[in-house]
Amino acid sequence: MSAAALQATRVCVFDAYGTLFDVAAAARRWKDLLGERSHQLSELWRRKQLEYTWLRSLMGRYEDFWHVTGAALDHAMAALAIADPGLRARLMASYLELDAYADARPLLTRLKAAGRPTAILSNGSPSMLAAAVSAARIGRLLDAVLSVDPVATYKPHPSVYALACERFACTPAEVCFVSANGWDVAGAACFGFQAVHVDRTGQPPEGLPGRPAGTVTALDQLPPLLAL
Ligand code: LAC
Repeated sequence: MSAAALQATRVCVFDAYGTLFDVAAAARRWKDLLGERSHQLSELWRRKQLEYTWLRSLMGRYEDFWHVTGAALDHAMAALAIADPGLRARLMASYLELDAYADARPLLTRLKAAGRPTAILSNGSPSMLAAAVSAARIGRLLDAVLSVDPVATYKPHPSVYALACERFACTPAEVCFVSANGWDVAGAACFGFQAVHVDRTGQPPEGLPGRPAGTVTALDQLPPLLAL
């Protein structure tokens, strides 16, 4: 933990999917139709979605996150022998209104009250993020919603993290970056952010460069780390 460095940050930037929005909520919503395959589908869908972002970035073949999310769902459904175009459409639509974690809105409200600038910095396409932010009613609590789209590559490419510094005219060290994705924390820390890992499930440490400045098990533990 680097308490002083975290307390010296002046902007709070959040990952979206898995951190503020619960990506498992889409498959959970259609559990009646998916039955016991619900959890498996959700896990494989998310794993492939992330893999495809990394692979497309390496290949120099960017397509936006809506496209990638659909391609990952197609793979996951095929792997589990689920052939149901109607269900596919429902699952994709659910991604536009994922449940926010219960601790997300209260934290953003608290940061707003403390006068701390906040933003989302996400792989999500601008339209996906706009829909999710609106459904979760957190738009007025955020100063910016930043998508990777303008740089046409995905996290953890440094050019993505640089978007936050450009938006807030600040140095990397002035950003507290919060993510539940260990690999995103590693990428953000390598970029120079003070990165906080939201480890809700007790994950083992990632074997990657870039250590978190702090680790919490829930978002409500963040304000004390920032001395708020
Ligand atoms: C995001 C992915 C990492 O929101 O979940 O950027």
